[in-house]
Amino acid sequence: MSLRSDFLVLGSGIAGLRAALRLAEHGSVLLVTKRAIGTSNTAQAQGGITAAIGEDDSPALHASDTEHAGAGLCDEAAVAVLVNEAPKDVSELLAWGARFDRDASGRPSLAREAAHTVRRVLHASDATGREIVRTLTERCSSVSSLTSLPDHLATDLLLEDGCCVGVRVLAPDGTAGEIRARATLLATGGAGQVYRETTNPEVATGDGIAMAYRAGGRVADMEFVQFHPTALAVPGAPRILMSEALRGEGARLVNAAGEPFMTRYDPAGDLAPRDIVARGIVREQERTGAAVALSLAHLAPDVVRARFPTLTRACAGVGLDLACDPIPVGPAAHYLMGGVETDLWGRTSIPGLFAAGEVACTGVHGANRLASNSLLEGLVFGARAAEAMRDPDRAAASADFRASDRLTRDEPSRVPHHQDPVLETGEVRDLMWRAAGLFREAGPLAAAVDRLDAAFAAFQQAAGQGEVRTPEAWRHGNLVTAGRLIARAALRRRESRGGHYRTDFPSRDDLHWKFHAAEELAS
Ligand code: SIN
Repeated sequence: MSLRSDFLVLGSGIAGLRAALRLAEHGSVLLVTKRAIGTSNTAQAQGGITAAIGEDDSPALHASDTEHAGAGLCDEAAVAVLVNEAPKDVSELLAWGARFDRDASGRPSLAREAAHTVRRVLHASDATGREIVRTLTERCSSVSSLTSLPDHLATDLLLEDGCCVGVRVLAPDGTAGEIRARATLLATGGAGQVYRETTNPEVATGDGIAMAYRAGGRVADMEFVQFHPTALAVPGAPRILMSEALRGEGARLVNAAGEPFMTRYDPAGDLAPRDIVARGIVREQERTGAAVALSLAHLAPDVVRARFPTLTRACAGVGLDLACDPIPVGPAAHYLMGGVETDLWGRTSIPGLFAAGEVACTGVHGANRLASNSLLEGLVFGARAAEAMRDPDRAAASADFRASDRLTRDEPSRVPHHQDPVLETGEVRDLMWRAAGLFREAGPLAAAVDRLDAAFAAFQQAAGQGEVRTPEAWRHGNLVTAGRLIARAALRRRESRGGHYRTDFPSRDDLHWKFHAAEELAS
């Protein structure tokens, strides 16, 4: 198979769909996804999408909350773009038919989530992402210059003279092919599957990060992983996200004695930033020797069921009543703040290659993302990347790509003789959860890096010899690549900040560590 299009978009979450719609005004677009169109983290997003549209709100306040959650590492210019473009971009989504909840006066109703000082989260009950995907895919289906190619896995970037000219793909029947384009967008989402415990769908395997990195692209801030505090913790059941919007509407975290405990760990209590709540839960479990739960029993059951119908059904599926029962919860990997480094127009360090959404690192989230800013980032920066992709002058300006504060060059390693490089996918996920999870420390991190270095070298060697042929083998290699980048970055950063917590360096250290760190593979 050999295809050509003006523009190539990989991934169909909010960033990919929004970019594809914008690009389709300027040429042919091929939208490639490894599963059905719309299968993504976006489709599972519950809480909502932020925009400073309330009477008590402003972009400046939205920026200040974003930066506070980001623990001193947000890129101010990126935050300014995000919060200033939010009201216009979200209005466009509403104009395209997104059915968000309304208040009695007909205006979008605004929810509260952790670390927001005011209500600013637009939502479609507790299934906002599904509604956004519906709105955008319906719109895409009526655009004749946009073609979709589901069930095709992009495996490698095609490079010519150092520029990205497309990708290699694997078709469902296992045959390899090529797609060429003037400009390529990575909108492939995050990498939550790197961890044994995650709220992410099985498609979130860091494909775009791995592809860009292996092609010599720069990735940044990989140590910053957000662990959502409240994933359902029922043995044998999936780690379903119990949205932060539940706490925004008054749900309390309680210990086994039924006591609210979060103020023991932070004055903001249940609505402290996510990293603090996640660690608070683990510390309370250690203190009491028992599990913790979300309790909504003090709220009106009808109101709970009406506001959270999807979660009500999900809990019923495991024999729990969301409105009345204590719902067992615990942290799980949720979001990657780091990724393929981009400027404010989605340009990466590889000319012709762009990135938007969770795969990208714009620096907007710093060390810890503010709740419900992720859909907004995909919407705003998906459109901006499309603008840059269609404009040859802007696209060519990739050469001016800003340098990260600190750059590590990763020399290609060899498969070490002293160590068995074989690491099964389940072992990678387990290793990452234990060594590079919520609590990190030099010894276990260094041991994990050794094992992941060996597994990465083995994967690189096999890929170079054309021996990686199945989607499962690529999945494994991408998880190893993304996991190794996270573990290496976590080992390097000897402080604690946002989602990155080192038990051996428990304090934030602005003097030595207030910078973004990037890594690229030496050719
Ligand atoms: C949630 O609903 O708690 C998740 C929203 C987000 O990840 O921002």
